Amino acid sequence: MKIIQKKVIAVTGGKGGVGKTQIAANIATLLASKNQNTFLLDGDFGLANVDLVVGVKTKFNLYHFLYEGMSLDEIVTTAPSGLKLISGGSGIQKLAQLSRAQQANLIKAFDDIYDKTDNLIIDTAAGLHESVCQLLSASANIIIVINKEITSIKDAYALIKIVSNYYQKDSFQVIVNMASSEAEGQATFKHFIRIVNQFLNVNIELLGIIPNDEYIRKAIIKQQPVVEAFPGSKSAKAFHAIVNRLDQVSQTAPTGGISFFFEKLMLEQNGFQQGVS
Ligand SMILES: Nc1ncnc2c1ncn2[C@@H]1O[C@H](COP(=O)(O)OP(=O)(O)OP(=O)(O)O)[C@@H](O)[C@H]1O
Ligand SMILES: [Mg+2]
Repeated sequence: MKIIQKKVIAVTGGKGGVGKTQIAANIATLLASKNQNTFLLDGDFGLANVDLVVGVKTKFNLYHFLYEGMSLDEIVTTAPSGLKLISGGSGIQKLAQLSRAQQANLIKAFDDIYDKTDNLIIDTAAGLHESVCQLLSASANIIIVINKEITSIKDAYALIKIVSNYYQKDSFQVIVNMASSEAEGQATFKHFIRIVNQFLNVNIELLGIIPNDEYIRKAIIKQQPVVEAFPGSKSAKAFHAIVNRLDQVSQTAPTGGISFFFEKLMLEQNGFQQGVS
């Protein structure tokens, strides 16, 4: 029997529109379709749109769990692939204001599903906001999405700088998105790693290169992830390679579990609150 290592992975990038949501949704869908019990947390509370990409409409979010007495089961929406979607809604921002009882409730709910859960993938918002950094800090693995644009490289660099300096993270996996060729993708990564290595003491690993692919746009129109809508497309093949790599590389630190993610997240937020008050 193959042992699946539990993964908590945040997909981020600094810059808007680099493909974070596409990447989170397609990776999560593939993991789910390999019969791994997978949750996708839409951490982009401003512009929550993961549900559109995976083609299901989420009615409820973490807020309803935290403040309206709904169970975790009730706020989870299951996509055709088996992927379980949790919309952060305004719940994520409010984690810092939870009472001890509410915090315990949330951690317990995730503890209860822990044994049955293989992966938690988190789609983050663009920008270097405190809330994004906190999500990253709590995640065992961080995928940074870049493309060849200088603004994307600059924003990803700035994000790594903050997260490594202030949140003690020192390992990052990079996906180069929208590459017009494998060679261009490799060149973008080399350029990026040269800049990072010059100024920061962190480990950067190339997780994969995703081509610029019109089928991603066609899949959006069908409201399906490209790995489902067009499994033979170039980008779908790239997503398969990435997920195989994720399953191969030894992932997380021992403390990388799912309830740990929420514990750490609330700790970060409480810490931040105390820090500013
Ligand atoms: N590899 C690709 N090839 C072609 N188009 C792509 C690719 N990746 C993403 N896109 C397009 O780029 C747009 C932005 O993608 P996405 O919404 O995933 O970015 P994002 O980083 O999540 O944006 P935001 O910062 O607004 O959350 C999408 O509309 C999608 O059509
Ligand atoms: Mg997005």
